[in-house]
Amino acid sequence: MTNSSDTQKASTSNAMWGGRFSAGPDAIMEAINASIGFDQRMAAQDIAGSRAHAAMLGATGILQANDVEAIREGLLTVLSEIEAGDFPFSAALEDIHMNVEARLKEIIGEPAGRLHTGRSRNDQVATDFKLWVRDQLDACDTGLQALIRALLTQAEAGADWVMPGFTHLQTAQPVTWGHHMMAYVEMFGRDLSRVRDARARMNTSPLGAAALAGTSFPIDRHMTAEALGFDAPAANSLDAVSDRDFALEFLSAASICAMHLSRFAEELVIWSSAQFRFVTLSDRFSTGSSIMPQKKNPDAAELIRAKVGRIFGASTALMMVMKGLPLTYSKDMQEDKEQVFDAADNLMLALAAMTGMVTDMTANRESLAAAAGSGFSTATDLADWLVRVLGLPFRDAHHITGSLVALAESKGCDLPDLTLDEMKSAHDGITGDVFDVLGVENSVSSRTSYGGTAPAQVRAQIARWKELMA
Ligand code: ARG
Repeated sequence: MTNSSDTQKASTSNAMWGGRFSAGPDAIMEAINASIGFDQRMAAQDIAGSRAHAAMLGATGILQANDVEAIREGLLTVLSEIEAGDFPFSAALEDIHMNVEARLKEIIGEPAGRLHTGRSRNDQVATDFKLWVRDQLDACDTGLQALIRALLTQAEAGADWVMPGFTHLQTAQPVTWGHHMMAYVEMFGRDLSRVRDARARMNTSPLGAAALAGTSFPIDRHMTAEALGFDAPAANSLDAVSDRDFALEFLSAASICAMHLSRFAEELVIWSSAQFRFVTLSDRFSTGSSIMPQKKNPDAAELIRAKVGRIFGASTALMMVMKGLPLTYSKDMQEDKEQVFDAADNLMLALAAMTGMVTDMTANRESLAAAAGSGFSTATDLADWLVRVLGLPFRDAHHITGSLVALAESKGCDLPDLTLDEMKSAHDGITGDVFDVLGVENSVSSRTSYGGTAPAQVRAQIARWKELMA
C-alpha cells in the first residue's frame, strides 16, 4: 500500500486529535499507526460500549436526553452500515473507535462530539477488546463441549474394546478404547475449566477509567459495567487501561488446548496409517493425492497438529509486547489484537475440525484387539500373578517374567502361546491358571483401581462426565 517513494504529508491534521497539529501525518506514519485494517473486527463491541456509555451519560445527567437519543439512533445506523458491509473504513481515522465516531458525526452532527465525554480511547479499546475476547472464551466453551460430547460417544461405543496402551510409543499394557478416549475428555475438560476461570477473572469493566486517571465527570461505572455484562468496574483506573492479562490468559488457555489437540491429531495420523489401521477417518475429513491414487491423507489432523505453532507463537508475541511496558497505556498495546484474532480463528477452526473428525471416525475394533495382544502386552499381568498367587517379591516376578518374554521372543510367539511346561521352566510353582491373566480381556477387566482401564471404571467415568456435561 505504502512505500517510501510515495511518502508524503497529508495536507490536513487529524479531525479527532489534530488540534495542536499543523500538518497531517506522513503516509508511512499513517501506515504504521492505523489499526483499522484489523480492529474493525471489534465494531460490534465498540458500538455496544458506546451505547452503554451514552446511556449512562444520559442517566447521570451529564448529557441531555435528546443528545443521548440522537447518539443511540446514530450508533444503530452505523452498526447496520458496518453489518451490511458498506461502511467506508478510513486509515486516516486510525482505528475502529475514531471511524465509528467520525461516521456518527456525519450522520447526527454535533451531538456525536459529546459521546467521548468522560472516556478515552484507552478505556474504550480495553473495553472493546475484553468484550471481544470474552465472546471468544464463550465460543471456546461451546466448541470444547461439542468435542467432549463427541469423545464421550466414541468412548461409550467402545468402552470395553481392547487396544494397546503405549509408553515411549512401545506397547506397554492393554487398555480400552473407551479409556483412551476418556483421557482426552480429561484434557479438554481441563481446557474448559481454564476457559471458564479466565472468563470469571477477566470480567471487570475498564470503561470509565478514561485516559488513565478516571474522570471528573460524575459517571456511573457500575451502570456501564452492568450494561455490558461485566461483574463490576475494574477497581484501578491505571490498571484498567494497561491490563492485557485477559488476552494473555486466553492465549495461554488456547495454547494448552491447541497442544492437546496436536497430541490427539498426531495419534490420529498414526492410527489411520496402513501400518496401524486403528481408525478409519471419514472421506469428509480426508484428502487424496494428486499422484498416488491409493492415498487417503489425514490432512485435517496434520493441520490441527501444526496449529499449536501459531497459537503458542501468539502467546509468546503478546507476552513480549507487554513485557517491560511502563504504566499505563503505550501504543505497543495495539499489537495485541492481530495475535489474539489469529489465535482465536485458528483455535476455533481446529476445535471444529477435530470435533468433525471424532464424530465421523470409525474405530476398527478387530485391528485394535489384534494389536492389543501383541508385543507381550500382558507381561505385567504375569508378573502380578506371580506376586499375588505365588507370593514372590515383585522384583523376582519381574525377572522371571522377563525370561519368559525372552523365551517367547526366541520362539517367535506371544506369551499366551507358551506351553505350561515352558512356563514352569522359569518357575515350577506356575500353574495353568496363569493363562487366565495372559488374555487381554482379562488384563483390562482386572485393572479396577479408581481411574483404571477396566470397562466398569471407564463406564463410571463416562457417566460422571455425561452428568457434568448435562
Ligand atoms: N488503536 C488503539 C489500540 O488499539 C486504540 C487506543 C489508542 N489510544 C491512544 N492513546 N493512542 O490500542
